[in-house]
Amino acid sequence: MNYSASKICKIFSLSSKPELTKKMLLNAESQGVIPKQSLIAMNKRSQKLWSPEQVPLIGQTFGFLEKPKKPLVLTTFVTKGGVLKTSLTVNLARIAALHNIKTCVVGLDMQGDITTGLGFDYNLNDDMSIKDALTQINQAQGLMDYYKKDCSLDDIIHPTDLPTLSFIPETPELVALNQSLNNRNRREFWLNEMVAEPLKEKFDLILFDCSPNWNLLITNALTSCDTLLAPLECKINNFRNLKMFQSFLGSFKNEMQLKFNTYYIPTRYSGNRKLSKEILNWYQTHLENCSNYFIRESLQGEEASALFLSLPEYTPLSPTALEMNLLIDELWQQLTQTNKDINYKPKNNLRPLHP
Ligand SMILES: Nc1ncnc2c1ncn2[C@@H]1O[C@H](COP(=O)(O)OP(=O)(O)OP(=O)(O)O)[C@@H](O)[C@H]1O
Ligand SMILES: [Mg+2]
Repeated sequence: MNYSASKICKIFSLSSKPELTKKMLLNAESQGVIPKQSLIAMNKRSQKLWSPEQVPLIGQTFGFLEKPKKPLVLTTFVTKGGVLKTSLTVNLARIAALHNIKTCVVGLDMQGDITTGLGFDYNLNDDMSIKDALTQINQAQGLMDYYKKDCSLDDIIHPTDLPTLSFIPETPELVALNQSLNNRNRREFWLNEMVAEPLKEKFDLILFDCSPNWNLLITNALTSCDTLLAPLECKINNFRNLKMFQSFLGSFKNEMQLKFNTYYIPTRYSGNRKLSKEILNWYQTHLENCSNYFIRESLQGEEASALFLSLPEYTPLSPTALEMNLLIDELWQQLTQTNKDINYKPKNNLRPLHP
């Protein structure tokens, strides 16, 4: 995908900040502050556009996110499936990368949604036999190969269309990795010591995308992170699940003496449903560190995920895209403040629930 001036203006727009205009972009282009667009053929006409490689340099100048002073490690996890964990991870990763923030997403869910969601290229073609295709797929290396020392960490980091966004794909061997970790000393710390710490040498933002099932990959991701991102669906089932999740998480955090912060993000909000509104309101008034924004239930969200894009890239004019930018801006402010504060003490997020 290439980016027009009007799309760039929307991708980097926030209602709380002065509007970025086409004129400002074109001025910056003519002064050499940002890269030059190329004339690209589109159906019967040509249009001046920026390529994905160029956009991070524009985001660095005109965007709303600043590079963190030191690398940030975030884990997206909650014990409930389908609540937009991966969609949030992909949106945050792409938006940060568009701001020239070097980002690496590590997929820890055997379902492989990061591998799909960031467009992993297996080099398959339609003329292949099923046997050749399977051989090709099985050759993809992941964390288990690195754990067994069959390859280096660099070997399993894959590029995307954005030069500032990389990822470590999930492979089916994550199941075996989970089992192998079980037999190790310091089994909760392998990911931090062998993956998160080395990644910090190269990336500003590291994101672990987790499955909804509590396992050793999750506990490893929790011991590695500065902040846990916990999406909470604005639906009654998730609401009931929250208390259990908080108590589980609280015990683990205490036993392991971890200091990560938890940031709750309401998702799948439906403004035309009374229950959804009430649940959103409850989250935002009762939970410490709950976003003032939310991710709305929308077809556009589904479509953006299917095309491996963030909402602001896919549908820049829609309110859902602006909501995503506001959510990420708010989250980023919290994260980078925490990041700046060397005497930071985590808050205890566990409050009694009174549904
Ligand atoms: N804003 C949205 N509204 C509704 N559906 C969405 C939205 N954004 C993404 N989706 C779709 O919802 C489905 C579940 O989303 P996602 O994979 O992010 O959830 P998850 O919490 O990671 O799930 P899992 O627990 O299986 O890992 C996906 O098919 C995705 O395309
Ligand atoms: Mg997921």
